[in-house]
Amino acid sequence: MSKKRNVTFVGLGTMGYPMAGHLSRSELFNVSVFNRTSEKSAQWGEAYEGRVALTIEDAVKDADVVITCTGRDEDMMEIVFSDDGMMPYLKKGSIFIDHTTTSFKLAKHLNESLKDKNISFIDAPVSGGEAGAINGVLSVMAGGDAHILDACDSIIKTYSKSITLMGDSGSGQLAKMVNQICIAGLLQGLSEGLLFAESENLNMDKLLSAISGGAAQSWQMVNRGKTMHQREFDFGFAIKWMVKDLGYCLDQADGNNTKLTFTQEVYDRYTNLMDKGHTYSDTSALMMFDELNK
Ligand SMILES: NC(=O)c1ccc[n+]([C@@H]2O[C@H](COP(=O)([O-])OP(=O)(O)OC[C@H]3O[C@@H](n4cnc5c(N)ncnc54)[C@H](OP(=O)(O)O)[C@@H]3O)[C@@H](O)[C@H]2O)c1
Repeated sequence: MSKKRNVTFVGLGTMGYPMAGHLSRSELFNVSVFNRTSEKSAQWGEAYEGRVALTIEDAVKDADVVITCTGRDEDMMEIVFSDDGMMPYLKKGSIFIDHTTTSFKLAKHLNESLKDKNISFIDAPVSGGEAGAINGVLSVMAGGDAHILDACDSIIKTYSKSITLMGDSGSGQLAKMVNQICIAGLLQGLSEGLLFAESENLNMDKLLSAISGGAAQSWQMVNRGKTMHQREFDFGFAIKWMVKDLGYCLDQADGNNTKLTFTQEVYDRYTNLMDKGHTYSDTSALMMFDELNK
């Protein structure tokens, strides 16, 4: 019988908490977790089977696979490279999977730095939101070596419904950027459509039912159309995360000569909405822009 692999999940936030929970249900691994704020990891330890590590050293030193899901580039830099970071304790020959949505540059930097220690890196941002994490049906876009991703398939599958290897290191993050660029433009279109419908006093239930099965159909229309009309934004994917993600897209586009005209416009609208108190509102609050800027 083959030995169980030690897998450590770092970052028990909105996404990481349920993802690590799915992982802990697998009989194939010895699961450990670590979170900067220890109350959250203690709570996780009460809800799931698994070892709760109290220091980053204890969390990663015996791990065959380390998985991170933190906030942004700066967080990954801190958690890996700072004086209190995990770099000195990572095991030679181990695998490092990062589910954080970061820049392409950060993914490349992690890959290069870890390679020097004979550690294989996969950038693996996710799509599907909190509901996708809770239900274990995330979509994962990965960059790295095929044989390394294959070796992690049974791990990632515990919380995802699809895993796509996009290509070399960093290309998972590039795919996630495309995802965010598409959502930004789509939400602006959806906002304008719904505001137009409201001005014409169209019945919103009938309208959404009429058009959400046709060519204008989208996840956002199906899952957010009604709540946008009801001006409910206190849930979902926070604008602050979208601003971070679109910032990475705009930065990347600067280097590859793509004109992201609408993405830039939506980015500016979101930063304006953050100034107006919508930092933690769902990204569908984009439809409030004109109302708040009269
Ligand atoms: N939420 C979504 O719907 C969604 C969907 C797709 C992708 N994503 C992406 O997934 C990632 C995680 O999102 P989330 O919603 O789970 O975020 P979150 O709830 O804010 O959780 C972030 C986690 O990272 C930890 N962390 C952050 N900075 C750290 C640092 N410097 N050192 C150590 N730990 C640190 C936090 O620890 P503490 O508990 O100590 O703060 C927390 O466990 C982000 O990159 C986000 O863009 C999110």
